[in-house]
Amino acid sequence: MEDTGMYIVANWKMNGSHEAAREWMHSVSGHLRKEPFDGHCIVCPPATLLHEMGVWGEGTPGLTTGGQDCHTDFAGAFTGDVAAKMLKEVGASYVILGHSERRRYHGETDNIVAAKVKAALAAGVTPIVCVGETQEQYERNETLSVTESQALAAIADGQEGEVLVAYEPVWAIGSGKIPGLGEIEVAHSAIAAFLTEKKGIAPERISVLYGGSVNAGNAKEILRIPDVGGVLVGTASLDAAEFCHILDAGR
Ligand code: PGA
Repeated sequence: MEDTGMYIVANWKMNGSHEAAREWMHSVSGHLRKEPFDGHCIVCPPATLLHEMGVWGEGTPGLTTGGQDCHTDFAGAFTGDVAAKMLKEVGASYVILGHSERRRYHGETDNIVAAKVKAALAAGVTPIVCVGETQEQYERNETLSVTESQALAAIADGQEGEVLVAYEPVWAIGSGKIPGLGEIEVAHSAIAAFLTEKKGIAPERISVLYGGSVNAGNAKEILRIPDVGGVLVGTASLDAAEFCHILDAGR
């Protein structure tokens, strides 16, 4: 992987309010303006806050917004859903897809995730594809086979542009537990290697982010691991001061 700067992604999930978002953006944008960051800071709030966060953050170096999901279609009778081009229209450049909470609570299969990736790319939004094993799969030593099959299913042969994958062990999300640093390194280099071998994607276009219980205390050691191209942060991203510490760990 080429060093294009770290990707530090805030996944707010179904959290936040207008007021909290405004204060968060004021702090994080102020921090980035004071100390330029040569990576990518991407905030993914609930869809209802995307437009205003984009406006509040406009012109902040290194800062962009992203959605947390999109539909496989461009438009239609899909009550409650949001299309990728709608995310784009309110300023989002990225979208998290295939998060384990979507797979678990919304029955998203690898095929659905693959269709969403296609829809996002067609709308000009860069997908951040989440992969990761469950606790049982981890105990059975299936991390590499599970992440490989999820990533291979979601990413098209020769996919263009930046190819972002987030390795998020399901058991590490929101649990305070993370894999050993060596285990993260093995998973990340395996994911990058098989995307190059099997999908023909040049290594310099691939970034594999780690997600699952990242916080201000462990971000630095995680971001130092070879083949870690960034982090996807849930709970700890809601607190602007803690998120700024994580950003600083990626400098
Ligand atoms: P967490 O969530 O940081 O709260 O573990 C990460 C994620 O689900 O993306």
